[in-house]
Amino acid sequence: MEVTLQQANKGLRGSLEVPGDKSISHRAIMLGALAQGVTTVKNFSDGQDCLTTLAAFKKLGVEIDFDTQAKKVVINGRGFHSLRAAKEALDMGNSGTTTRLLMGILAASSFETSLVGDPSLSKRPMARVTEPLAKMGASIKISSQQTLPALIEPSSLKGTTIRLEVASAQVKSALILAALQAKGESTIIEKLPTRNHTELMLKQFGANIETLADGLTIKVQPTKELRGQELVVPGDISSAAFFMVAAALTPNSKVKLVNVSLNPTRTGILRVLEKMNANMTIQARQSVGEPLGDIIVESSKLTAIKIGPKDVPALIDELPLVALLAAHADGISEIRGAAELRFKETDRIKTVCQELGKLGVNVKELQDGMVIEGQPQLRVTADISWDSHGDHRLGMLGAVAALRNPGQFRLKNSQALGVSYPGFLTDLASLIVG
Ligand code: S3P
Repeated sequence: MEVTLQQANKGLRGSLEVPGDKSISHRAIMLGALAQGVTTVKNFSDGQDCLTTLAAFKKLGVEIDFDTQAKKVVINGRGFHSLRAAKEALDMGNSGTTTRLLMGILAASSFETSLVGDPSLSKRPMARVTEPLAKMGASIKISSQQTLPALIEPSSLKGTTIRLEVASAQVKSALILAALQAKGESTIIEKLPTRNHTELMLKQFGANIETLADGLTIKVQPTKELRGQELVVPGDISSAAFFMVAAALTPNSKVKLVNVSLNPTRTGILRVLEKMNANMTIQARQSVGEPLGDIIVESSKLTAIKIGPKDVPALIDELPLVALLAAHADGISEIRGAAELRFKETDRIKTVCQELGKLGVNVKELQDGMVIEGQPQLRVTADISWDSHGDHRLGMLGAVAALRNPGQFRLKNSQALGVSYPGFLTDLASLIVG
C-alpha cells in the first residue's frame, strides 16, 4: 500500500494518549496464560504483533477474551501445565518478541510445537535464544541458517548459570521464562541492562525472581504457581517517541503525550532529547509497578549527539528517530555500538541510511552505527518516495520526516505501521494544525 504523507506547515498542537506498550502487552498475555486465575489487561496494544501473541496462546488452548473497543483482555489462566499442543504450526507473523519468549515458555512443555514467521521474521537470528536454552536442557531445532521455522521438542530443564552474549531483553526473558520451569535455581547475567518488564511483571504475579545490586544478575527460582493479576498497560514510549521527535523538529509545535511508560530501561530517548537541547518537560506520576507520566515537547533548536554502546539498550527501537533528529541538529552526530540494529525487522542501519539519503542528508553507514552531518535549515523541496521496507518503525519515521518539508512525501509499504500502531497516521493528523 502507498499513501501520501501530510505536512504540518502551521505546526503540531494538542495532547495524545498513545496505545499500550507493546513489550508489556505481550508479557501480560503470556503470564496471564501461565498463571492460575483470571488476569485482566486494560489498554492492551492492538498492534498486529500483540494480536499474534494473543492468537498463539488461544491455539495453545488458553481461554482469552479480547474486547477490541475497550482494548481490554481477560485471560482465564489455568497454570503452566494447562497449555495444549496446537493443531498446526503457530504463525509468529512479524513478531520477534512472541517467537523468542514462546521458545522459553514452551521449552519445558510435554508436546511439540512448530513456529513459522513472515519473510522478515524468518531472516532474524534465533540461535541467540536456542543455544542458551539448550544449556538448560531445551531442544529446539531451527533452520541451517539459524532462523525460523523452529520445532520445539519436549524437554525437562535444569537450573543453570548463563552469561548472555547479546544485550537483548527478548533472550533474557526467554531464559527467565524457562528458568521458572527448571529444576533448581538459575542465574542469568546480562552484558548491559535491558528492558526489565518480564522481571517486574513476574514479581507482581508472585514469582521468586531477584535482580542483584549490580543490575545485571538475575536469580530465578523454580515457581509452581503464578497468580492472575489486574494490569493496566502504560502508553508505549517507543510509539510516543515519534510524536516527541515530530514536535521537536516541526516549527510552531507543542505536543503533550499522556500516560507514557517511564521505565528507566526504556527512557534513553528522553536523555537524548535533553542532551540535544530539546524543549521538553517530563511530569512523572505516582504509580504501582511500571513507572509512568506525561511528556511535553515543543519545537527545538537541536545540537549534535554522540551515542555509545552503553546508551543503546535503553533506546534500541528509537535509534532511527535519533538519526532523524541528528539530521536536523547543529553539528556532526555519531551512533556507535548499535550493530544490533542490523537484526531488527529490517537491517535498520542500512534502511535508515538509505531513506535519510533520499532527503539529501549526509549520512555515513558504519558496521555498528552511523555518522550524520546535521543541517538545521534542511527543507526538502523534491518529491520523495519513502519506503518502510515493511518495517513499522521505518514507516512512522517517514511520516515524521515529511512534516517539515515542502516536498511531497509518499510512503511505500505503509501497511507495516499496523505491526505496532494501526492508528498512527490518524493520531498524527489529529495534531496537525489545519
Ligand atoms: C523487545 C526487546 C527488544 C526490542 C523489541 C522488543 C522486548 O529486542 O527491540 O522491539 O519486548 O523484549 P531485543 O531484546 O532483541 O533487543
